Amino acid sequence: MIKLDSVTKIYNKGKDNEVIALDNACVEIVSGSAIAIMGVSGSGKSTMLNIIGCLDVMTSGEYYIDDKKVSTLKSNELAEIRNAKIGFVLQENALINSESVFENVKLPLCFSKKYKIKEFKHRVMEVLESLNIEGLYKRKVRDLSGGQRQRVAIARALVNDPDIILADEPTSALDSKTASEIMAIFKDLQSNGKTIIIVTHDKHVADQLDRTVYIKDGLISDTEE
Ligand SMILES: Nc1ncnc2c1ncn2[C@@H]1O[C@H](COP(=O)(O)OP(=O)(O)O)[C@@H](O)[C@H]1O
Ligand SMILES: [Mg+2]
Repeated sequence: MIKLDSVTKIYNKGKDNEVIALDNACVEIVSGSAIAIMGVSGSGKSTMLNIIGCLDVMTSGEYYIDDKKVSTLKSNELAEIRNAKIGFVLQENALINSESVFENVKLPLCFSKKYKIKEFKHRVMEVLESLNIEGLYKRKVRDLSGGQRQRVAIARALVNDPDIILADEPTSALDSKTASEIMAIFKDLQSNGKTIIIVTHDKHVADQLDRTVYIKDGLISDTEE
C-alpha cells in the first residue's frame, strides 16, 4: 500500500516565483493495482510521481510505503528504499545514449545490494529476455527505435526487481502499435504482482488500468471535472 496524506509540494517557497505543485494531496494505492495519473501539462503529475518515487522531497505531509513512514527518512535511507522497492521509467527515458543496452540496464544494480557482482550479467540478460530484447544487449542505445528504447528503460526499471513501477508518460513518443505493446508489458507486470503507476495524457492508456487519479493545479480528485 502506498499512502500520501496531505502531501504539499511548493517550489521556490516564499519567493515571488513560488509554485504550489501539489496541494494537500491524499491518495491511497493498493499493492498490486495499476493506476493512471492524468492532468494537463503543469498540473503536478511529475511532481507527484517524483515524490512517490522518492526522487524528490515534499514540503509538508506524510508518505507511507507498506506502513513505513517514508517522509521522515534521511536521504541515504530514502535512496535505499528507492533502490529496493521502486523502478522508475523516467520521461524521455533518460538512458545513456553512448552506452550499450547491457550497460544501461546494469547500472541500477551497482547502486543496490540486491544482487552480487557475479550475478549481474545473468540478471541483466534475464530481464532483457523477459522483454524480448536480449538480442539487443550489445547495441548502443542511440541506434535503437523509440519502442526499443522504451523497453530498455523498462528493463532498467525492473532490474532490481522492485514492487512498484512508476512511469512518466511512457507511451507519449510512440506510435499506437508500439504504445500497445508497451502497455501490454505493464499489464503483464501487474499480473506478476507489481504495483503500476503511470502518468499519461492519453485516455486510452488510462482506460486500460484499474483506476485514474486526476490532478488539476496540484489538486487531486477521483473524477474528471
Ligand atoms: N524544479 C522546479 N522548480 C520550480 N517549479 C517547478 C519545478 N518542477 C515543476 N515545477 C512547476 O510545478 C508545476 C507542476 O509541474 P509538473 O509536476 O512537472 O507538472 P506536469 O508533470 O503535470 O506537467 C508547474 O507549474 C511547474 O512549472
Ligand atoms: Mg510531467
